[in-house]
Amino acid sequence: MNTVFRGRHFINLEDFTKEELDTMLDVSMELKRKFAMGEDTPYLTNKTGFLMFFEQSTRTRNSMEAGMAQLGGHAGFLDTSSMQVAHGETAKDTAIILSRFGHMIACRYCNWGRGNKYLNEMVRWSSVPVMNLQDDLYHPFQGLADLMTIKEKLPDLRRKKISIIWAYAESHKKPISVPVTQVLLFPRYGMDVWLAYPKGWELPDWVIAQAKENAEKHGGTLTITHDEAEAYKDADIVIPKNWGNWVIDQTGASVTGATKVIDDALLANKSWKCTEAKMATASKDVMYMHALPADRDNEVEDSVIDGPHSIAYDAAENRLHTAKAVMTLLVGGK
Ligand code: CP
Repeated sequence: MNTVFRGRHFINLEDFTKEELDTMLDVSMELKRKFAMGEDTPYLTNKTGFLMFFEQSTRTRNSMEAGMAQLGGHAGFLDTSSMQVAHGETAKDTAIILSRFGHMIACRYCNWGRGNKYLNEMVRWSSVPVMNLQDDLYHPFQGLADLMTIKEKLPDLRRKKISIIWAYAESHKKPISVPVTQVLLFPRYGMDVWLAYPKGWELPDWVIAQAKENAEKHGGTLTITHDEAEAYKDADIVIPKNWGNWVIDQTGASVTGATKVIDDALLANKSWKCTEAKMATASKDVMYMHALPADRDNEVEDSVIDGPHSIAYDAAENRLHTAKAVMTLLVGGK
C-alpha cells in the first residue's frame, strides 16, 4: 500500500489509485471517530493554508477552515475579488507567492472553460500542494465525501444501482463538476451507474469514455438514459441534481455561481424533479443524496430531502472529515 501522499496535488480523483482513495477514506474515518470523541488531532500544527474562492461556498469553505483549525493549523480565506487577481495578477505569480508564504493553496474556480486550466497553471508554479475546491470539471472533495457516505451505509458497493439524474433548477447555473466526478468515481467501486438527463445535457464524450473504461476495469457498469423513470426504478441510491448545459455554455458564457439562468430549454424540462412518487419506484431502502445547496421545490420536494431516505446531511458532514484527511495526508503526511 502506498502511504506517500505528502506534496501531491489534489485536482482530480482520477490522479489517485483506488488503494490511495481507500487510504484517504480510512484516515477520514479515523478523524471522524476522534472528532466524535473530542480527541485532539494536531497533525498540521503551525501549518498555513490559503483558500482562494472565485465563487460562493458554504460547505467547502467551512469544512476546510474548520478542518485546518481542528488539525492545529490556520487557513486564510481569500475572496479573489479582493485579491490582486481581480486586477489581472496571474495564476503563476499568485501560486509562487502564496506557496512561499505557506504550506498549501486551495482554490475554487468554476468558470466554464477556465477553472481547471487555472488550477493546473497554479500546480505548475506552486511549490506546495494545490487543492481543487471545485472547478468547471471536477469536485474531488465532494466525490470523496459522497464515497465515504455511501460506504458507511452500504458496506458492499458492488452491483448496487446508483443513479445520477439531471434535475430542474433555477437558483444558478451549476457546473458539471459534481456529476463528472461521480460518474468517473462510482464505477471504480463496481457500482452499476445510471446517468439520466434530458437530451442536450450530455457530459463530455471523454468523460463517458473514461467512466466506461473505469467500469470495465472494476466490474461496474455505466448506462445512459433519457428516461428518468428508468433511472429511478429499483435504484439503491439516487442523486437528482441540476447541472448546466456544457455543450452550449462552454462556448463563451462566463458563468459564476451567482448567475441565474432560466431559458426555454430549461423550462421544457421542469418535470425533472425528485418527488415522493418517483422515489416510491426505487428500492424500498433507496437513499437520496445531493451535494447541496439544493434548489428546493425545483430539484426536489421538501418531503424527500427532509424525509427518511435522505442522507444529504450525512454526506455534507463528511465534507469535514474528508477535507481533514486530504490536508493531513498531502500537507502533513509521510
Ligand atoms: N457541495 C458544495 O460544494 O457546497 P458549497 O458550494 O456550499 O461549498
